[in-house]
Amino acid sequence: MNQRILNEIRELKAKRKAVILAHNYQPAEIQDLADFCGDSLGLSIKASKTDAETIVFCGVRFMAETAKILSPDKTVILPDRWAGCPMADMITAEQLRGLKQKYPGASVVCYVNSTAQVKAESDYCCTSANAVEVVNSLPRDQQIIFVPDQHLGKFIAEKTGRDLILWPGYCPTHILISEDDVKRARHVHPEAVVLAHPECSEPVKLLADVLLSTGQMLTFVKTSPAKQFIVATEVGMIHPLKKVRPDAEFIPAGTRGVCPNMKKITLEKVLASLTNLQYEVTVPEDIRLKAKKSLERMVEILPEK
Ligand code: 13P
Ligand code: SF4
Repeated sequence: MNQRILNEIRELKAKRKAVILAHNYQPAEIQDLADFCGDSLGLSIKASKTDAETIVFCGVRFMAETAKILSPDKTVILPDRWAGCPMADMITAEQLRGLKQKYPGASVVCYVNSTAQVKAESDYCCTSANAVEVVNSLPRDQQIIFVPDQHLGKFIAEKTGRDLILWPGYCPTHILISEDDVKRARHVHPEAVVLAHPECSEPVKLLADVLLSTGQMLTFVKTSPAKQFIVATEVGMIHPLKKVRPDAEFIPAGTRGVCPNMKKITLEKVLASLTNLQYEVTVPEDIRLKAKKSLERMVEILPEK
């Protein structure tokens, strides 16, 4: 059954001159099918450079929108029209304009997990992989508004030693990973290194050995001598981690780190998306041009190795 779907996807992919991009949180079979898997930054760079005519984005809406903003001449499709990111929807462009009015001298840095409209209102965009570098690239005396993730914001503030004006957004998946989940996993695996995503709550981050974006986790485990890792992020991450370190054991921190939106993409939906070119993601041109500026600044600032 799967083999038939996979063959059909491959045929249609060639016919549509399509590339399939998948985020590290996607279901294993989608990651295995994709031409490129990665974190938000890696996927944005890939989307800006590909010469394919169609981009099938296996992820959530803001990721597909980012691809469209950077590659307006390509057809960008999201296999499930409802695959969104609740955190991205926690601030509207109107709310951000209100914040800018309150702090007129401030620069706005927005997390890539935001709508195109919010990106259009921002000066800089960043992902969890380059957020610290983006903020550090701004003058020390520059006041900065950071939206929408308060937890990533607190991580950046701590790393850069700067006061940021934060918005109370959060990832509903990452905040479900609790301190007790990490403590329990550590009790059973005392030798394990704890990897956590900066979107986690502050108590979880305090327990972690390292705080990394999903792409940085892959780089980290490649060279780490450890044999066991406790993973405090979305469970889909375990699949690519195992691929780069088949000899190591990866233990999820609890069972609740599941992003229901990332799991909406299925092989059947990818096939339907290529058959019918659905669901096309578009961005109004005036918004796209403004959002592109903040994204281009982001793509230029790479994380330090
Ligand atoms: P990364 O940028 O680390 O891939 O994270 C994206 C995301 O949605 C985290 O929840
Ligand atoms: Fe959004 Fe959280 Fe899902 Fe990432 S894991 S896409 S931040 S809801």
